[in-house]
Amino acid sequence: MSLLKLSRLADNKQRLILGTMSGTSIDGLDMALCSFSGHGRETQARVLHYHTVSYNNEQRTFIRNLASSDVVNMQDVALGHTLLAHWHAEMIKNALHTWGVDASEVDLIASHGQTVRHAPRRIHQKNHLPNATLQLGDADHLAYLTGIPTVSDFRQKHIAAGGEGAPLACYGDKLLFSKEGELRILLNIGGISNITVLDGNALDDHIPLTFDTGPGNTLMDVIIQKERTDLLYDANGEIASDGVVNQLLLKELKAHRFFSEKPPKTTGPELLSESYVQDALKRSGLISIGLSNLIATLNRFTAETIAEAVETFVQPKSPFKVYVSGGGVHNAILMQNLKACFAGNNVVSFEETGVNPDAKEALLFAVMANELICGNKLPVLNDEGHIKHVRLGRLSFAD
Ligand SMILES: Nc1ncnc2c1ncn2[C@@H]1O[C@H](COP(=O)(O)OP(=O)(O)OP(=O)(O)O)[C@@H](O)[C@H]1O
Ligand SMILES: [Mg+2]
Repeated sequence: MSLLKLSRLADNKQRLILGTMSGTSIDGLDMALCSFSGHGRETQARVLHYHTVSYNNEQRTFIRNLASSDVVNMQDVALGHTLLAHWHAEMIKNALHTWGVDASEVDLIASHGQTVRHAPRRIHQKNHLPNATLQLGDADHLAYLTGIPTVSDFRQKHIAAGGEGAPLACYGDKLLFSKEGELRILLNIGGISNITVLDGNALDDHIPLTFDTGPGNTLMDVIIQKERTDLLYDANGEIASDGVVNQLLLKELKAHRFFSEKPPKTTGPELLSESYVQDALKRSGLISIGLSNLIATLNRFTAETIAEAVETFVQPKSPFKVYVSGGGVHNAILMQNLKACFAGNNVVSFEETGVNPDAKEALLFAVMANELICGNKLPVLNDEGHIKHVRLGRLSFAD
């Protein structure tokens, strides 16, 4: 696609953008083929097709080794950057084939890439050094291999402008899911949990309050994968349903300063790791409490830290609804715990908005690519509390 044709995309009545997302859970690539008309406040989006392809064992092990070790082989990092693009390109081409869509019909790919490291100052703790984050899966390779121009690396400009590179969901959340007169809290429970607060009574051009509340599935996943090599996660919360929450451990898990730090704030599996759980067990004087009790406690930990973050930092003044997306929505015990913690019969699946909860994150990156290609800047709140307007995303040509 020539530069001229690309610049004219903004004038098209409709654009077809394939959003892809691969988060900290390292479970697979989410793909959502979305049609767009308009941009900014006029954005209309529809998910035409959605599919997740799981990483195979070899791919998962390769990525996990890069993502979870402090010391890595630089050759593996370089290889990973190219390999991830190859894997994602294959997944994309297969999905398009299954959907009966030719690559030439797709105007853009919006590629999040595979997060292998999230390193804001609050995690790396070196105050003289900048925030950083790293997603692998080079977009020049992806664009070349699929034949589709690709927007990628949405997080880097956010950091350059003074943000932590996350959460980015707030942009699409606001454009697609704000409802006048309603207070909505959009909660995504992936590896990490994040919320976007959409106040339908607030002024139009404000940046929604958005931040990570702490764990999503990551701690449950890491323990399950260690103790039960046959499982990747606690499907439907079945293991948690056999356990009892250990209050001593729960108190220690919640003791970290992250939970009392003021938003905006982000975190990652770099903090919420297996050793986070082991340290809390040690401090509570427990050596082992059994797998189901441990998972039940971690499940409750996720729910309580979400609800307490809303109570402390959102302080809702009117009735509100919590719309849950991400893999956590499939964990019945987690949903039960959330409903108990919010206690207002106001926790619902994101499905209620008409969008598949699993497709939401991929759709949101497609929204950001639509904004970029239509010439719109997005606001970033920097660490001094000022708003900077920047273009998020980097463009790769297919040839
Ligand atoms: N049926 C299920 N029952 C329980 N948990 C599930 C189920 N399906 C998925 N999950 C959980 O959801 C996780 C994947 O969630 P998701 O894909 O939203 O996260 P992610 O890829 O890390 O993205 P994000 O960037 O949003 O963190 C899995 O690792 C698992 O813990
Ligand atoms: Mg995922």
